[in-house]
Amino acid sequence: MADKKFELTDLASGKKSLLPVKSGTIGPDVLDIAAINKDHGVFTHDPGFGVTSATESKITYIDGDAGVLEYRGYPIEQLAEKSSFMEVCYLLLNGDLPKKAELEKFNDDIRHHTMINETLLRFYNGFHHNAHPMAMVSAVIASMSAFYHDSMDIHNPRHREIFAHRIIAKIPTIAAAAHKHSLGQPFVYPRNDLGYCANMLNMFFAVPCEPYHVDPVAAEALDLLFILHADHEQNASTSTVRLAGSTGANPYAAISAGVAALWGPAHGGANEAVLAMLEQIGTVENVPKYLAMAKDKSSHFRLMGFGHRVYKNFDPRAKIIRAACHKVLERLGSTNNPLFELALKLEEIALKDSYFVERKLYPNVDFYSGIIYSALGIPRSMFTVMFAIARTVGWVAHWQEMISDPAMRIGRPRQLYTGAGKRDYVELGKR
Ligand code: ACO
Repeated sequence: MADKKFELTDLASGKKSLLPVKSGTIGPDVLDIAAINKDHGVFTHDPGFGVTSATESKITYIDGDAGVLEYRGYPIEQLAEKSSFMEVCYLLLNGDLPKKAELEKFNDDIRHHTMINETLLRFYNGFHHNAHPMAMVSAVIASMSAFYHDSMDIHNPRHREIFAHRIIAKIPTIAAAAHKHSLGQPFVYPRNDLGYCANMLNMFFAVPCEPYHVDPVAAEALDLLFILHADHEQNASTSTVRLAGSTGANPYAAISAGVAALWGPAHGGANEAVLAMLEQIGTVENVPKYLAMAKDKSSHFRLMGFGHRVYKNFDPRAKIIRAACHKVLERLGSTNNPLFELALKLEEIALKDSYFVERKLYPNVDFYSGIIYSALGIPRSMFTVMFAIARTVGWVAHWQEMISDPAMRIGRPRQLYTGAGKRDYVELGKR
């Protein structure tokens, strides 16, 4: 097949250049615009990176119009039904599904890195009890770089692997410690005889004074949510991890930056905001009032959990979570869940409203996830932390892919300057 090219013409000077087109396995082609500055002295301008591909990647594929999400080629629906979070972690990190022995070894590697340094545990005491857990989690992750000097050569593949195992294993422990700190309860140490999600629930909910048994239904529900949140190609937090990591910064610093980016309500913070919004709406009768506010640009109110930069038909993760909500609430014996009923009604009404239809705004992954977290007893302020636990593997997979690429360059966007022209300094007394 002949190489595809685009021709770019500067209409003022008539100067032409040919832009090579790159094709991926699937998905739209991309224009390689690297030469346009040399040829024409211009940059491209794409605020919000709506049409910019910043990297090649082999990890996750999304078709936003068709509602397709695939990890390493496997459809999310199949992984949600048949796989486990640990298996998905292996898949994202290594490119293929593990054989039995590989999965056992991976599980074992993760289980043997679950404890955090005792000194790190003392960091939590520096936080006020009502500190947001995302603040504690991002700070503690950033601090981890101070503990592993012997294994932080980012160009050493074994060091990168140890980092991957450490951060995936320890993030539930770090999150649970933040939760216990906010409750004023003693930290609960990890139990390596439990699975990843069961161990996390135990660290969250066990107390030293009485036995705690992890409900397998709860562990299974969490495992499903973690699979669905594990990766989402070049989203804001993953791009942040890549950008921070592209400077050669240590990987703990890069992941901490990702946690900070995830926190915002336009991204991972939406799951917390959805529950707050549903509580604020209160009853179905109030839905029209809030929909009107969401449509009024001057109100700054958006329907949280609605809309997505890429999905313009439906978010496949939201479909799976909505179906799971029914099952999980039933199995946990919390069928009459008024917030879930309200969310279903809100979705139904919004999806008939021309404002949402015309703008292709559908429920995203965060619309229903908070309902399940709540039913599991996880407090609202911890929802985005749950997302961070699941997304850590995606961040690590992308960081690994970037660092192991010999063509890696520091990420450094350009700008269209619209500030003041050159002017001379005016002495203080003369202004
Ligand atoms: N409620 C009301 N209007 C909305 C919403 C919403 N949730 N989302 C988008 N719109 C409107 C915008 O006002 C805009 O209208 P206009 O064309 O009349 O100006 C139009 O839809 C397009 O929206 P943009 O903001 O340009 O879309 P963008 O791709 O930049 O933003 C985003 C996507 C951030 C997800 C947005 O839809 C939003 O803020 N949603 C609510 C927050 C949320 O749920 N975030 C989680 C996303 S999933 C995730 O990160 C895990």
